[in-house]
Amino acid sequence: MKIELNINKISDFVTNNEISEYSKKVEKSNNLLSNKTGAGSDFLGWHNLPSAITEKEITEIEETVALFKNKIEVLVVIGIGGSYLGAKSIIEALKPDFQISNKKPHSPKIVFAGHNISEDYLFELLEFLNKKSYAIAVISKSGTTTEPAIAFRFLKQHIEKKYGKTDAGKRIVAITDKSKGALRKLAEEESYKTFIIPDDVGGRYSVLTPVGLIPIAFAGFDIRQFIEGAKFMEQLCHKDTKFEKNPAAVYAAARNALYEKGKIIEILVNYNSKLQFIAEWWKQLFGESEGKEGKGIFPASVNFTSDLHSMGQYIQDGKRNLFETVISVKQNIHKLIIPEDAANLDSLNYISGKRVDEVNKMAELGTSIAHIDGGVPNIKIELPEINEYYLGQLIYFFEKACALSGYTLGINPFDQPGVEDYKRNMFALLKKPGYEKETAEILNKL
Ligand code: PA5
Repeated sequence: MKIELNINKISDFVTNNEISEYSKKVEKSNNLLSNKTGAGSDFLGWHNLPSAITEKEITEIEETVALFKNKIEVLVVIGIGGSYLGAKSIIEALKPDFQISNKKPHSPKIVFAGHNISEDYLFELLEFLNKKSYAIAVISKSGTTTEPAIAFRFLKQHIEKKYGKTDAGKRIVAITDKSKGALRKLAEEESYKTFIIPDDVGGRYSVLTPVGLIPIAFAGFDIRQFIEGAKFMEQLCHKDTKFEKNPAAVYAAARNALYEKGKIIEILVNYNSKLQFIAEWWKQLFGESEGKEGKGIFPASVNFTSDLHSMGQYIQDGKRNLFETVISVKQNIHKLIIPEDAANLDSLNYISGKRVDEVNKMAELGTSIAHIDGGVPNIKIELPEINEYYLGQLIYFFEKACALSGYTLGINPFDQPGVEDYKRNMFALLKKPGYEKETAEILNKL
């Protein structure tokens, strides 16, 4: 089985001919990717990553995780952006929401740090760790990103105080560049166990490197199945696959055709709260890849049915510049039947005997019909179930679609020049050495 893409419900908004026009452009984009002749081609390591990962690399990750098995209660994963969201999204999708049904009691709880500069978050994390046995996975490709660097400074001191410098060093795993950057230097000085982030893989495309695989493996999930799923999708989305059979190509063509029709906002919708962070990862992937040169679809997300009671109003009735991409999960993990109630004061007996998921599916169907009637095109991605294998498929599908879509839009989907501006201003305001001119300029603006 595989994830299925369905674009039938955009036919009221774009014609088959328009999709067909885009199919030719997307095919050219696929050639650019495969021949490595497009913009940003130094960053195409992700493209064949699923099939290129070696048994040795997987085993090294598994052996590292095994060393910590039963020894730690918590793993603190430090990272931001592409060094955070991939792992977070997969772990959130796979972990039980409550402890009661945890099938993996020996896996540590994964907590994150360095993905914000919240003093309260960091303070409370340090307090929490006082009473826990823990280890750290610090992830930064550049090794100089402010948010994780601040968090690591605190956590390094905390863990060294708790276990002593030598033992603490054995509890820290660094995932970073093979030779450059402050984290690489520190890891070598302190003899931390290290894993390499390949030069040619950018942060938002890095979930299938140790950046994503280490935290996912620590959380007790099957990285082999995750890679297998991605590998399946790598083959399916190959440039030699016919357009209609290539879901990444069809999705890229559909969203570009909708964009041309003025649909400039794409909302990723889920009806299963476990997928909430898949949307956060997806927003970074598409937002950072496509939003440049005054162009790009704005990626947004909602959790239904929760947000039908808030954002549902705007989507149904607001400005008609939106389209939705719904991730629909076919098979749930658990089964719950709505009970009969003799008093029936809530008038729900008409659905008693049905699965909760049947109600959810009818909400999904009813909503998509209402939104299409209201002028919101609807793309559907059906996930057979939430497990490592299908999430691997989904991740690679989106990565490939994003690259194809970005090339088709005419931008470089692998750089992110815009993210430097806030950093320059923050450094100027903090009077970082070397930023004297920027400091003078920004103070004039205040
Ligand atoms: O996608 C990206 O490139 C960014 O989100 C980076 O991953 C993020 O800024 C973290 O960078 P680094 O891993 O160098 O600390």
